[in-house]
Amino acid sequence: MLEDLKVGVIGLGMGKRHSRAYHEIPGVRLVAVCDVDAERADRVARDLGTETATTDWQELCDLGLDLVSVCSPDHLHHRMAKAAMEGGAHVLCEKPMTTTREDAEDLVRTAERTGRKLAVGNVNRFVPQIRAVHDLVAKGRLGELFMVEANYIHDMRNVYVRTPWRIDPDIPQNPWIAGASHAMDLVRWLGGDIDEIMLYDNHVAGTPAELPDHAISMLRFASGCLGRVWLNKGLRRWPEHIVQLGAYGSEGTALTDTEGMHVTAWLDPEIGGQMGPIVIPFQPTIGHPVVEELTAFVGNILDDTAPLVDGRAGAATIAALCVGLDSAASGKPEKVRPIE
Ligand SMILES: NC(=O)c1ccc[n+]([C@@H]2O[C@H](COP(=O)([O-])OP(=O)(O)OC[C@H]3O[C@@H](n4cnc5c(N)ncnc54)[C@H](O)[C@@H]3O)[C@@H](O)[C@H]2O)c1
Repeated sequence: MLEDLKVGVIGLGMGKRHSRAYHEIPGVRLVAVCDVDAERADRVARDLGTETATTDWQELCDLGLDLVSVCSPDHLHHRMAKAAMEGGAHVLCEKPMTTTREDAEDLVRTAERTGRKLAVGNVNRFVPQIRAVHDLVAKGRLGELFMVEANYIHDMRNVYVRTPWRIDPDIPQNPWIAGASHAMDLVRWLGGDIDEIMLYDNHVAGTPAELPDHAISMLRFASGCLGRVWLNKGLRRWPEHIVQLGAYGSEGTALTDTEGMHVTAWLDPEIGGQMGPIVIPFQPTIGHPVVEELTAFVGNILDDTAPLVDGRAGAATIAALCVGLDSAASGKPEKVRPIE
């Protein structure tokens, strides 16, 4: 009989959800948790019966674990994911994978050199209605895509209070890299590699982040398809978070979001659809699909298959996001180089 995979989690905000999820997944054993906040680490370890609680992430990476989730602030992902892979673990790195293209490429090379699997926490791909739009595209039901668009809207004002590292003046989280990483991942999933980006950004009134927290980008994919990503981190609405996705092709259209639990599609009758909207319903998932995401990654490790969002996909998203920032600075459309 196979031994359980030994799992560790670094950073216990979002990482607490990872820890609880691993606690539920058959075939894995959560053996170590890490947070610089010792009380937080001890509490999670006590609640879940975890053997090791540490404040030293390098110590966790040196434990010989099979799988590590990196759930620390964004600027720490690169060094922690790298050390975990070098310590022999497969890694689920939360989004954004890194904060620079160079660091993302370095993680791809580290995964290749160590033979470890690297997955990135672009969890929206596990939302059922978003998967369904991808299925329609992948099966050709929308024909040839000419436009894909995704909006990531999250009023972060309460989140900034809970997680002040995001607005730390010395090393603030970049709202575009952090938030738009979800939307950029989705448009890349549907539309493929991005060739060129033009980005405009400004500030949402009343949001304490010093960096622009509202941006719109126009995209041209290598396929010739066009796209758009909209990021808004202060929109006044409730619930405070929503992801919206649209795919438009020569034979059909599909629209969805993370509130509605359905896809609305218009599919050409000649290929078995109908011209009026067809609402494709889903059973609601219970909250955030992190359990589905981590279960899938555990399956990838056991079956030796590729993660749905692998290191190359994560790095291509970071590369596109960074070129977006270059475009905002230059005021011109900028080219995206493929990942090496
Ligand atoms: N995929 C998603 O839906 C999703 C949702 C939320 C957050 N995230 C990502 O998760 C990461 C963490 O965000 P969060 O909201 O959980 O923040 P958080 O502040 O709630 O949690 C981060 C934790 O990391 C700990 N930490 C900081 N420095 C550390 C270090 N050197 N060693 C060990 N622990 C350290 C902090 O003490 C804190 O407990 C971010 O990269 C964020 O983008 C992803």
